Amino acid sequence: MQRFTLPRDLYHGKGALEALKSLEGKRAIICVGGGSMKRFGFLDRAESYLKEAGMEVKIFEGIEPDPSVDTVMRGAAVMEEFQPDWIVAIGGGSPIDAAKAMWIKYEYPQSTFEDMCKVFGIPKLRQKAHFCAVSSTSGTATEVTAFSIITDYEKGIKYPIADFEITPDVAIVDPELAETMPKKLVAHTGMDALTHAVEAYVSTANCDYTDPLAIHAIEMIQKHLIKSYQEDMESRDAMHNAQCLAGMAFSNALLGIVHSMAHKTGAAFADYGAHIIHGAANAMYLPKVIAFNAKDPEAKKRYGVIVDYMGLGGANDDEKVAKLIEYVRGMNDELNIPHCIKNYGPDSYSTEQGFVPEEVFLERLPEIAKNAIADACTGSNPRQPSQEEMEKLLKCCYYDTEVDF
Ligand SMILES: NC(=O)c1ccc[n+]([C@@H]2O[C@H](COP(=O)([O-])OP(=O)(O)OC[C@H]3O[C@@H](n4cnc5c(N)ncnc54)[C@H](O)[C@@H]3O)[C@@H](O)[C@H]2O)c1
Ligand SMILES: [Zn+2]
Repeated sequence: MQRFTLPRDLYHGKGALEALKSLEGKRAIICVGGGSMKRFGFLDRAESYLKEAGMEVKIFEGIEPDPSVDTVMRGAAVMEEFQPDWIVAIGGGSPIDAAKAMWIKYEYPQSTFEDMCKVFGIPKLRQKAHFCAVSSTSGTATEVTAFSIITDYEKGIKYPIADFEITPDVAIVDPELAETMPKKLVAHTGMDALTHAVEAYVSTANCDYTDPLAIHAIEMIQKHLIKSYQEDMESRDAMHNAQCLAGMAFSNALLGIVHSMAHKTGAAFADYGAHIIHGAANAMYLPKVIAFNAKDPEAKKRYGVIVDYMGLGGANDDEKVAKLIEYVRGMNDELNIPHCIKNYGPDSYSTEQGFVPEEVFLERLPEIAKNAIADACTGSNPRQPSQEEMEKLLKCCYYDTEVDF
């Protein structure tokens, strides 16, 4: 038996933020990031809609990108004091993910971060509060997913919390919020969305319910991501929907090792002054993983179907896989994303020698590979890599060398 879970309500289209007026409750806490939502007036609007709905409103601000366990615990303590019956998270993946984890801690004050990380091990939520997510970036789709990614900075590791319990009750997908994204964010989040759709389509947990969502998302991303990056606002709006469809697919079909590697490399070199931004990591690793997974006959066939839908040509599945790899690499070029960690600069742009020194990468490689294999996303990847294969794959992602194993 498989399960397919989505938020009960999804409001989409310009002005959908107003749906906050329809929430019923006494107290709502708004969880938000560093300032973009405030700067563009969305925070004020959200607050006034909730007040119009008759609720007392508290704002928890300043959730950082790639949120930490500390932030989660701080937010949960504020919730414990305020006792909200609605948690409204507004912003990119970071504040929404942090709010999901705070929600668990608020409902179960005894639970530790380790408890939260037990895959599909979250006890019943909604005893105290319901959850509404309003996304302002077009990538993570966390507004509809059963996932939250929290970083343990002591270990330098990103942990996925995964359980349908944390699938929001209400999702608001209002493209107006995405229109203010700077270009770099459009590029990174867009490639995150593409990776979600591709990984969901070839995942071992794919099914008839997730396939159409993944394929349609891929077609839309192909049509709109580059145009959105070039500031075409119709395409920007379309991307907001596309990423959400990809999220509906992967929340139920799960992901693969592009994400395992992105989670385990993202913060692994933070002591060298930067993160490898999630979407950029995915964009660099996706072509390598396609080559690796295509050794699995079923995955190869599925990549072939993707290529057919994208209309990229290719006389047989081998040619189609090559076309897909070439296409994704071309997208990275157009979006100003490097092809490998070696060339990944601290500002995410391509440079001769990036911020991760070769000797540091090689020294940390065995541990990163081990952690990537243990990541929650590895189980549904079509090919299970050994330690040796994962190390080789990560090396290809560092040097941009061909995957021939
Ligand atoms: N839960 C999931 O299913 C899932 C999936 C993929 C990634 N993630 C996680 O989500 C995080 C990344 O989220 P993200 O890519 O959405 O970015 P983010 O939330 O980290 O935001 C990045 C920056 O963009 C700014 N920003 C956000 N929206 C904006 C807007 N509309 N206009 C201008 N600036 C804006 C933020 O203030 C922030 O400085 C990572 O931690 C990643 O691991 C989660
Ligand atoms: Zn992702």
